[in-house]
Amino acid sequence: MSQSVNWPLPSRRPRRLRRTEAIRGMVRETRLTPDRLVLPQFIVAGDGVSEPIDAMQGRSRLSVDLTIAECERAMEFGVSAFALFPAIDPSLKTSDAREALNPENLLCASVRAIKRALPEACVITDIALDPYSSMGHDGLISDSGVVLNDETCAVLARMAVLHAEAGADIVAPSDMMDGRVAAIRTALDGAGYTGAAILSYTAKYASAFYGPFREALDSAPVDAPNVPKDKKTYQMDPANSREASIEAMLDQAEGADMLMVKPGLPYLDIIARLRGATDLPIAAYHVSGEYAMVKAAAQRGWLDERQCMSEALTAIARAGADVILTYAALDFAQWWRESLR
Ligand code: PBG
Repeated sequence: MSQSVNWPLPSRRPRRLRRTEAIRGMVRETRLTPDRLVLPQFIVAGDGVSEPIDAMQGRSRLSVDLTIAECERAMEFGVSAFALFPAIDPSLKTSDAREALNPENLLCASVRAIKRALPEACVITDIALDPYSSMGHDGLISDSGVVLNDETCAVLARMAVLHAEAGADIVAPSDMMDGRVAAIRTALDGAGYTGAAILSYTAKYASAFYGPFREALDSAPVDAPNVPKDKKTYQMDPANSREASIEAMLDQAEGADMLMVKPGLPYLDIIARLRGATDLPIAAYHVSGEYAMVKAAAQRGWLDERQCMSEALTAIARAGADVILTYAALDFAQWWRESLR
């Protein structure tokens, strides 16, 4: 074919390396594998109970027997880490969240049962008071409606010890109180749990993308006098990024083993920033609202679920996350296995 153009032809042509899947595969920079994923699980009391979560299509609150069955299935597909969230019976929720310190509570009992059935599973527990609080907050609240920092840390530290005692491999403080990592590390070490790791929710934003999660646990802040309407006095302002570096510095100094950014996709710049600020592993939480958006659009035929979910998770990994918590972990692992055939 004769050349009809009269501008200089490019000698560098990046498209050469995009010509075939064999070439694209060879030069692919990010590879997401199921072993980097954590599947969050909502646990409810009872036996044989499965309650679908409306705003999170494909995910349900499960009793521990069914949770174990699902974890086992996930492990067959290469996902071996699970973040547990208990849906506490409303009658057990109090303003001081005292059920959090009951060694026989739903979460502690579930950790024991899961570790008994699946000793190889990595069990991650959430350290915050919201599932147990009748006010729907992560911390204790004063009479005048202030979320109390140091008093809350003392409770969180005791909670972490109970979780470690039950067999949790990793405790994950998601409360955003100042100094909680140091409080938890000191308490764990003091109780002899020097091997229990801390995955700190370092840069956790006051995000509206947590809506479906709060539906799943019925844990949204309640509308009552002297109860803050939102979590903005402890979770970070979505407009801030330098502040994330300060949180990272503090968590690392206090002894965190891994740092987390949350949510995921809207905060890729924060993931990249923390990746550059520390050598600790970085985790990102692809949260309930991010999952729900793709699911809802896919249901209407507006998006391709498999491709969009995979693209979102790969983008989070590309930004610098080593570990990703996602409700799509099992779906992704199944797609990944199919892609090998
Ligand atoms: C509670 C907690 C929340 C999530 C994880 N731990 C909700 C909140 O802070 O209100 C959100 C996870 C999600 O949306 O998937 N401390």
